[in-house]
Amino acid sequence: MRTKIFQLKENGEENEEFLRQAGECLKEGGLVAFPTETVYGLGGDALNPESSRKIYAAKGRPSDNPLIVHICRLEDLWQVASEVPPEAERIAEAFWPGPLTMILPKADRVPRETTGGLDTVAVRFPSHPAARRLIEYAGGFVAAPSANASGRPSPTEARYVQEDMEGRIDMILDGGPVGIGLESTIVDLTVRPPQILRPGFVTQDMLAQLLGQVDLDVTILRDDSGQAPKAPGMKYRHYAPKGDLTIVSGPAQKVVDYINEKASFYAARGEKVGIIGTEESLGRYRADSVKCAGSRTDEESIGRRLYRILREFDDEDVTRIYSEAFSAGGYGQAIMNRLLKAAGHKIVYLEESHT
Ligand code: TXA
Ligand code: MG
Repeated sequence: MRTKIFQLKENGEENEEFLRQAGECLKEGGLVAFPTETVYGLGGDALNPESSRKIYAAKGRPSDNPLIVHICRLEDLWQVASEVPPEAERIAEAFWPGPLTMILPKADRVPRETTGGLDTVAVRFPSHPAARRLIEYAGGFVAAPSANASGRPSPTEARYVQEDMEGRIDMILDGGPVGIGLESTIVDLTVRPPQILRPGFVTQDMLAQLLGQVDLDVTILRDDSGQAPKAPGMKYRHYAPKGDLTIVSGPAQKVVDYINEKASFYAARGEKVGIIGTEESLGRYRADSVKCAGSRTDEESIGRRLYRILREFDDEDVTRIYSEAFSAGGYGQAIMNRLLKAAGHKIVYLEESHT
């Protein structure tokens, strides 16, 4: 299969024609990758079981891992969910269109191929203008997982989609780098209190302000709970870089010293070492490949760069990676969740010295 690539321009007149063609392609059962505000999605017609099967095949993804149904009009929520509790309406009013996905009981018209066999459905109304137009042209319901091959970091730019999907899908819409860089927050509204299954740009605090108590799936920041994550996709070791990644947490200078010591140890053994630091610490690291995740005072910058950095280390054939830890509150919860998963939960805690 030859994958067509269309460049979307800011305010480009040809965009509308590209989006229309892409929408037609989805209606006919084809697969189209497209930008959203979080990461690139790999779209198929959510109401066509054959399209969902094709999505799983293109990604190499296990078919028990349900897809998110993307909509472009609030009223369409009632088309795919059989029950919409008042909490869901309040969340939609506050955060849609935007980087938030709700789990609700599914309506009959949503095929089980799309929901990975579940009776519930994940629904998201993205804010990205091209995504919204595409969904409209496609008939209103687009199933879209992140557009990476299974086990790779989610794509934040079209060239990463191309790397993973060229020849496997019909079309890629290139809308430039995404704004957020981490996948949407997933909140399960089929349980009381509502539970966050995947942290994201819309934080636990933001949801709790609106709804009162909102729990966090216990498996999100720890792996010793002995429980399976509630979002089937969270159990897979996603986002895994080729290199062996360790997170180092502790007082800033101790972290720098520890990482430098490890870096020179492995470099002396002929390994290629990568380090993820921040603007505040970058100049103090010595290794083959030192990358800046952003500034500690601007967590959004870190979220935006994290997946690109992991892909770059892969391209550079880095075999050992050390990363600073980030605060686990607020948006940091999403950043640390993705980093911990990439590291297979390998984290070293350094203590304050008491001399
Ligand atoms: O930001 C995003 O959400 C992106 C963009 C493209 O919209 N999409 C995305 O999709 O991240 P995906 O398929 O990579 O991740 C969806 C996650 C998986 O972990 C899946 O298991 C979970 O959502 N999920 C989907 N439906 C579910 C359901 N009914 N119950 C529990 N978890 C569900
Ligand atoms: Mg994904």
